[in-house]
Amino acid sequence: MREMMLKLQEAALKAIRESEDAESLEALRVRYLGKKGELTGILRQMGKLSAEERPQMGQLANQLRAELEASIEERRRELNEAKLARKMLQETVDVTLPGETPRLGHKHPMYNALDQIKDIFIALGFTIVDGPEVELSDYNFTKLNIDEGHPSREWTDTFYFDRESRVCLRTQTSPMQVHAMETQPLPIRMIAPGRVYRKDEVDATHSPMFHQIEGMVIDKGVTMSDLKATLNLVVERLYGTGTVTRFRPHHFPFTEPSCEMDIQCHKCGGKGCPTCKGEGWIEILGAGMVHPKVLAGCGIDPDVYSGWAFGMGLERLAMGEYKITDLRLIFENDVRFLEQF
Ligand code: DAH
Repeated sequence: MREMMLKLQEAALKAIRESEDAESLEALRVRYLGKKGELTGILRQMGKLSAEERPQMGQLANQLRAELEASIEERRRELNEAKLARKMLQETVDVTLPGETPRLGHKHPMYNALDQIKDIFIALGFTIVDGPEVELSDYNFTKLNIDEGHPSREWTDTFYFDRESRVCLRTQTSPMQVHAMETQPLPIRMIAPGRVYRKDEVDATHSPMFHQIEGMVIDKGVTMSDLKATLNLVVERLYGTGTVTRFRPHHFPFTEPSCEMDIQCHKCGGKGCPTCKGEGWIEILGAGMVHPKVLAGCGIDPDVYSGWAFGMGLERLAMGEYKITDLRLIFENDVRFLEQF
């Protein structure tokens, strides 16, 4: 029995010393010292021994158990230390490495232009209103005096959601005039920027989605001279004092009279150049006096109140301001383009 124990001692100590990790070490503990382990197995045979041998062997077994336990404990500490050392090595932080600067974005150039316009109108006492992009044809067309049969109501021009052409993506921000008149107390001074949608193929000057800014004033005694004075002031704030403008007669179903407003080309001073396509003038918006039929349709007495409205394209404005020649660049969000502003 002594021999068996010595053999076990030698084998166990070797195995413990050579164990590679906590799991195999635990397996060794179970194998040698566990309830069904090898040492217990040897002790079971104590009954065969003589009365003198038994205490000696008992003592030897206890010593062996203590020795193995200590050895396991020692190895466990070594393994833990090695593991910690490896971890420390892997997680080293080299504080001398250069840092990675996070890339900060900035506002889109078109929204910079919009912010500028908003500031100008806010200073003039206008409110900024927001409205639905999915619109009833009633609001997008009918209440704006655009009757059934008008070409802009065709399926080839407008995105509809239903066969009856009752619901569409708004083709202009002008329905915001109607929403404002139906919901806001008079007098009204508002602008309404937002997205609009038309069935256009994408090219350098067209996109099926673009942005407009609608503006409207309704009060007693509002005239065409208020329209001209206000828009001239806005344009001077936007393009600089002394900017020359002109108003040309035009037709819109929801204004009467209607006009388009041009600014004299800031690049060539009106002589004609590539920026103004040789015209000397750049068209920037459509406007007019709100049609009495539109006022009446919104429950406003056209004999008491009058008003003016305008609508301008935001992309065109930003393109002029930042000398952008292709509309697609505004929507593609290529950072190499956007970083330039
Ligand atoms: N909604 C028109 C368009 O998309 C632009 C416009 C013209 C708006 C005259 C107005 C206006 O408010 O009075 O072409």
